[in-house]
Amino acid sequence: MIAEETITAAALETSSLALSLRLATHDDRGALIAMYLSFEPKGACLGLPPRKEPQFWLENLSAFPNFVVVAGERIIAHAALCSDAESGEVAVFVHQDFRGKKLGKRLLVELIAEARRNGLKKIWGMTELDNVPMLLLARSLGFSPGADPREFFLTL
Ligand SMILES: CC(C)(COP(=O)(O)OP(=O)(O)OC[C@H]1O[C@@H](n2cnc3c(N)ncnc32)[C@H](O)[C@@H]1OP(=O)(O)O)[C@@H](O)C(=O)NCCC(=O)NCCS
Repeated sequence: MIAEETITAAALETSSLALSLRLATHDDRGALIAMYLSFEPKGACLGLPPRKEPQFWLENLSAFPNFVVVAGERIIAHAALCSDAESGEVAVFVHQDFRGKKLGKRLLVELIAEARRNGLKKIWGMTELDNVPMLLLARSLGFSPGADPREFFLTL
């Protein structure tokens, strides 16, 4: 169950927009669905985000910590940490209108911090081999390639 309260309110400045990064709540569902309906490319990261009906995927993710970057009424980036007691899988999605502004990095830093808060020993992610932005982003925060080169992992 996701906490209803905001645990992080980092003020982020991107161009003239004031953005905030915080833990997602159930009330964010509509704005998250709106982000994914206009997200491109769909399905490019091992089938994610879903090409249709993102609400079912978001419902599954809601069992885990989710973070959002908010600009006014709009959610423009989203990340989740799908974990068990020991390890967690990270996933980060920045709407195409806002890429290259360090939002993906800020969200992945938050997922690492969340994993540490939750006492995880390892976090990992997986993407397509040609997803250079995600692979370089992970590398820039200390993730190493796994045996499968599409995988990246970080021991905490
Ligand atoms: C991958 C993704 C999350 C990166 O988010 P972003 O906000 O655009 O990236 P940032 O601005 O935080 O960039 C951080 C680092 O990532 C790497 N990076 C980001 N975009 C890049 C690009 N177009 N080319 C090469 N490297 C890139 C760089 O190392 C960059 O650091 P630098 O700016 O100091 O060089 C974003 O491109 C995205 O949502 N892609 C589609 C969905 C996806 O593939 N998600 C991965 C799921 S696991």
